[in-house]
Amino acid sequence: MSDVQSGILAAVPATGRYLGFSAKPQGDMRAALRSLSELADGQRLVVGLGESLLRALGRDIPGLRSFAGAVGPGLELPSTPAALWCWLRGEDRGDLVHLTRSVQAAVGSAMALDQVIEAFRHGAGLDLSGYEDGTENPSGDAAAKAAFVAGQGAGLDGGSFVAVQQWQHDFGRFDAMSPHEQDQAIGRRRSDNLELDDAPASAHVKRTAQESFEPEAFMLRRSMPWAEGQRAGLVFVAFGKSFDAFEVQLQRMIGAEDGITDALFRFTRPLTGAYFWCPPLRDGRLDLRALGL
Ligand code: HEM
Repeated sequence: MSDVQSGILAAVPATGRYLGFSAKPQGDMRAALRSLSELADGQRLVVGLGESLLRALGRDIPGLRSFAGAVGPGLELPSTPAALWCWLRGEDRGDLVHLTRSVQAAVGSAMALDQVIEAFRHGAGLDLSGYEDGTENPSGDAAAKAAFVAGQGAGLDGGSFVAVQQWQHDFGRFDAMSPHEQDQAIGRRRSDNLELDDAPASAHVKRTAQESFEPEAFMLRRSMPWAEGQRAGLVFVAFGKSFDAFEVQLQRMIGAEDGITDALFRFTRPLTGAYFWCPPLRDGRLDLRALGL
């Protein structure tokens, strides 16, 4: 297998930070990306490049597009594109503060840091609703097969397409649901994570059951809870060999097939939505050959 950004395959870290950058007018994107490629080891710093950045370079990566946003009955899922996405991963928040400064030093002349989201692991990988997140993720070879491009040639193989959405939970609404309603909304029992056979069609895991799609829609979810003051939720992050699995799941969640919307929307909504291409690695750095760098 080609070298990949290994943080994508690794377990979710204790602490994380998401950085979103926009392109500055007349910024030297090539110089910025060259500096960034030295810093980005793919392990403590996972990097994704947005369509606007690739266009500024006059390049195109097959399969990369921007998230178009989506609308369902009473649901608006915004599209909030960015030029550059960084996922900082670690065990110590202070390290991530300093890593943020290093990233800014590398790209700051060409890109502006617009968004910083502080994220963390909750318990043994729980969403803030208390439900375990990631249970049905593929593992081992299946994880790599779901998450990374293969068979497209050097510079592309080992790359990944990531969909990112910051969801904000409404805990008042969640608490107003009975424990039974909450379990039925997810389709799993919070107490022991057992999948509920009698869950309704609106249950989240019924909507998104990966093997229920044709073709099967497997992807690698690496989401983390976030909090800022009194606001909190989940940064949903899904890596795929393409955006197809994410898109078909999202369509089903918003009721595009059968008018049934995902019960998750009873207590949470996405504030953002964006797509990025995560380049492969080569000799421990980002492999930017596909961009002529
Ligand atoms: C705030 C937003 C979300 C929360 C709190 C959430 C939570 C969960 C939980 C608790 C599970 C069950 C355990 C597991 O297998 O991981 C799950 C499963 C899953 N979720 Fe989400 N999720 C969210 C958004 C999304 C979105 C936006 C998608 C895709 C568009 C998605 C796709 C999936 C998939 C594919 C599964 C596994 C289904 C299966 O094959 O059994 N989730 N999610």
